Amino acid sequence: MLDVGGGNGKYVDRFLCNFPNANCTIVEPEQYLLDKNIRNRRKTLVAGTFQDLPKNKTFNAIQFNWVLHHFISDSYAKSCRLQLEGLNQAYDLLNLSGIVMIFENFYRGTLIDDSASRVIYELTASNMLKYLTEQLGANTAGVGVCFHSENYWLEQLTETDFVDIDATHCYHFGNLNKLKQYILTIGEQRVGFIVAKKTKD
Ligand SMILES: C[S@@+](CC[C@H](N)C(=O)[O-])C[C@H]1O[C@@H](n2cnc3c(N)ncnc32)[C@H](O)[C@@H]1O
Repeated sequence: MLDVGGGNGKYVDRFLCNFPNANCTIVEPEQYLLDKNIRNRRKTLVAGTFQDLPKNKTFNAIQFNWVLHHFISDSYAKSCRLQLEGLNQAYDLLNLSGIVMIFENFYRGTLIDDSASRVIYELTASNMLKYLTEQLGANTAGVGVCFHSENYWLEQLTETDFVDIDATHCYHFGNLNKLKQYILTIGEQRVGFIVAKKTKD
């Protein structure tokens, strides 16, 4: 299993405990997080971004735990493209019958399904609004985050040729007041899990 943005390795540690025959790779750009990993002979640590991961190794499962929304470029359209390229790259790195698994925060818009995505991106990516968004509690102020609705991700996975796509609701979250929800056009925010399979090369 490849854990993209696997950070301190806590998820992989539990995965390895539950699957005694599994081997896991973590690709993580932040060295200070990699350094927090408990060493395990079944765990491989790769320092760097997913985009720069060597293409010479394939996997039976690829996990994106709250990382796809960090695939950010210098515009909203380019960020969405980077995310789609990320899914395509995952597809290429999977063996036949391999699966991709995604845990994400899903934001459904009030009138338009994925509208909150654009608003959140533009507000958090803006350098001019950095002070304001920081005060409003965004820890990605000036950097940008690109969340989406569940439907958006399902469409992207279909476009990437994944099949047997299944989404599971996990839990609702969020402590934004009604005014902030209104400004961000958020109808619903929740955590979900999506799994999808690769069945052809
Ligand atoms: C919100 S944290 C999630 C960490 C962990 N997956 C978890 O669920 O606790 C996002 C992680 O993705 C990493 N990350 C950001 N961009 C990345 C990229 N392009 N490739 C790989 N990892 C990335 C960050 O360094 C960070 O560790």
